[in-house]
Amino acid sequence: MKTILTCTNIHKSFQKRDEEKLEILKGISLSIEERKINVIVGKSGVGKSTLLHILAGLDKPDSGTVNFGELDLNKLKDEEISKFRNQNLGFIFQFHHLLPEFTALENISIPQMIGGIDIAKANKRSRELLDIIGLADRWNHNPSELSGGEQQRVAIARALANNPKIIFADEPTGNLDTANSTIIHELIKRLRDELDLTFLMVTHNKELMSIGDRIIEMRDGIITE
Ligand SMILES: Nc1ncnc2c1ncn2[C@@H]1O[C@H](COP(=O)(O)OP(=O)(O)O)[C@@H](O)[C@H]1O
Ligand SMILES: [Mg+2]
Repeated sequence: MKTILTCTNIHKSFQKRDEEKLEILKGISLSIEERKINVIVGKSGVGKSTLLHILAGLDKPDSGTVNFGELDLNKLKDEEISKFRNQNLGFIFQFHHLLPEFTALENISIPQMIGGIDIAKANKRSRELLDIIGLADRWNHNPSELSGGEQQRVAIARALANNPKIIFADEPTGNLDTANSTIIHELIKRLRDELDLTFLMVTHNKELMSIGDRIIEMRDGIITE
């Protein structure tokens, strides 16, 4: 088994104005193996999103390290982190965050073009991804012309656009009904098996937990798995 991501002794506190400093992450260390579905569970407010954002380079820890192989995120400048994220990491949020004024196809092509790929090549890849998620015939729809489940599938295709090795997902089915959640869960399993993807997801959804190869429990700022 190959490790794709390690974090060591991550600490993170938040201080709101006039309030006491709150230590949310109290020394989190984790090793994530390739080609596995990893699920983080824990009570609301325990720091799951905070941890996921730090691991995906969207936020910085107060101390501790995040490594992708030899690469140490702490050692990169902000622009380098953005570039690394664009090229190597995918992120799916609870709400799809698709750009409303662009079509499904364009939403998937934009991150590729930001990475320097020309529009024809990007659109070709986007069409392949729309095919994988079963929405090839909806390529020209804007997000408002898609159902909630379809919007989230487009968000997954967008996360896959630049061929990442690892996908981070924060409550990816938190906003969907059971039927649509099941479609997404099946899709995630297929992507692990067919594209050798690694997933690190936060969820409350029992069915999503059941597809996890590993369940990581957070409690009081530490991992208790
Ligand atoms: N930017 C922030 N500023 C202040 N407090 C924050 C910030 N982000 C998160 N928190 C606090 O940190 C705690 C953990 O948040 P979060 O990681 O979103 O929890 P979870 O995803 O497990 O529900 C919460 O109490 C939240 O209010
Ligand atoms: Mg959260």
